[in-house]
Amino acid sequence: MTPSTPVDIFLRPGQPDFQDLPWEYPLSEWSLHCQYLEDVPRGLSRHPVEFINYLGTIYAIKEMPSDLAENEFNLLLSMEEMRLPAVTAVGHAVTNTMAGKRSVLITRFLDRSLPYRSLFMSRSLLRYRDHLLDAIAGLMVQLHLAGVYWGDCSLSNTLFRRDAGALQAYLVDAETAELHPEIVPPTMRFHDLQIMEENVDGDLAGLGAATLLMDGIPLDDTGASICIRYQNLWEEITRQIIINPNEKYRIQERIQVLNSLGFSIGEVLLESGEVGDKLRFQVVVADRNFHRDQLVGLTGVEAEEMQARLMMNEIHELKATLSQAHNRSTPLSLVAFKWLQEIYLPALAGIRSLLKDDSDPAELYCQILEHKWYLSEKAQHDVGHQIAIEDFLRMIDQT
Ligand SMILES: Nc1ncnc2c1ncn2[C@@H]1O[C@H](COP(=O)(O)OP(=O)(O)OP(=O)(O)O)[C@@H](O)[C@H]1O
Ligand SMILES: [Mg+2]
Repeated sequence: MTPSTPVDIFLRPGQPDFQDLPWEYPLSEWSLHCQYLEDVPRGLSRHPVEFINYLGTIYAIKEMPSDLAENEFNLLLSMEEMRLPAVTAVGHAVTNTMAGKRSVLITRFLDRSLPYRSLFMSRSLLRYRDHLLDAIAGLMVQLHLAGVYWGDCSLSNTLFRRDAGALQAYLVDAETAELHPEIVPPTMRFHDLQIMEENVDGDLAGLGAATLLMDGIPLDDTGASICIRYQNLWEEITRQIIINPNEKYRIQERIQVLNSLGFSIGEVLLESGEVGDKLRFQVVVADRNFHRDQLVGLTGVEAEEMQARLMMNEIHELKATLSQAHNRSTPLSLVAFKWLQEIYLPALAGIRSLLKDDSDPAELYCQILEHKWYLSEKAQHDVGHQIAIEDFLRMIDQT
């Protein structure tokens, strides 16, 4: 880069070139010089962060001291390769601003994400609080299993998306992260949890001091509560089991438990135990996209993990019904196609009045399913999708 060039930018293929952004100014002055700025809810940050609406897509731009951005960009790319939930890196740049040299990280804005602050500030969102704690614990478990030490887990550094009534957490700030070739070692995992605990309690104390925190939220045991959830999940996923040689079916049972938690299986380690002819096995998980992968493979529908689990359950139910009706097993791929054409797509057409630009069709569909169960429970028989959709629309109309 010559001193007169304002920006030296590296972008992943398929991105706009961002050449007409006011790179010669530090980010803190873009409000005066940039026509693309967009106001979106955000967490607290040390570095300047701005959001731009560029050709209809929203991007986050973070300005940092020189060279830090490239490191964070590379970490985010590695996480994407490992299929971990994190914001998507778009590019990084070095800028020659009037205030000196800077580096800049560009990421895709994670749409439909909920800012944590509103979850702790509004009573109607209280039911999400537990989900939020589970989601952070689940995210940390996924990162550690994949060898990612975070070093700065906090509420502001995490984004939340609705996932079939629960929440899916995404990592947004990877500046302090470190990659390890294997599972993060225990002392570092412990340290990461300590940082999380301190940060989360600090985030909440900040809300409390600003009197934004709702009554009844404990200020100092939220971080500890995430730790307990983390430890329970970690134990569930990593434990070794001792079996008799004729109990190999227990391996299959264990795989099913882990799949139901969303984890795909990498390998099964089986070895002789210390006592007699006993065997010891451990199921090693790969990533937490089990149902998402199945659903997208069978139908092309993209969804979060819990949403996909609900939909896959529905597809399996349909398979059982069809197999029974025709007195022969129907292949899952055929059932999935039928589900897509005759159930999912017509349901989305039925609720199209609710589908705005920023709405999540998969989440709305899961709400319809929940409503169908509620109505069916009351009626003591399956009311079907159509009735559930009509009643759901009436209910929304009245609110
Ligand atoms: N891609 C994105 N999508 C949605 N929101 C984003 C994105 N990138 C950043 N944000 C928002 O901007 C805030 C600040 O970003 P970030 O945490 O990366 O900055 P930071 O200065 O490194 O933070 P820290 O003070 O923790 O070091 C985040 O809390 C998040 O709310
Ligand atoms: Mg941050």
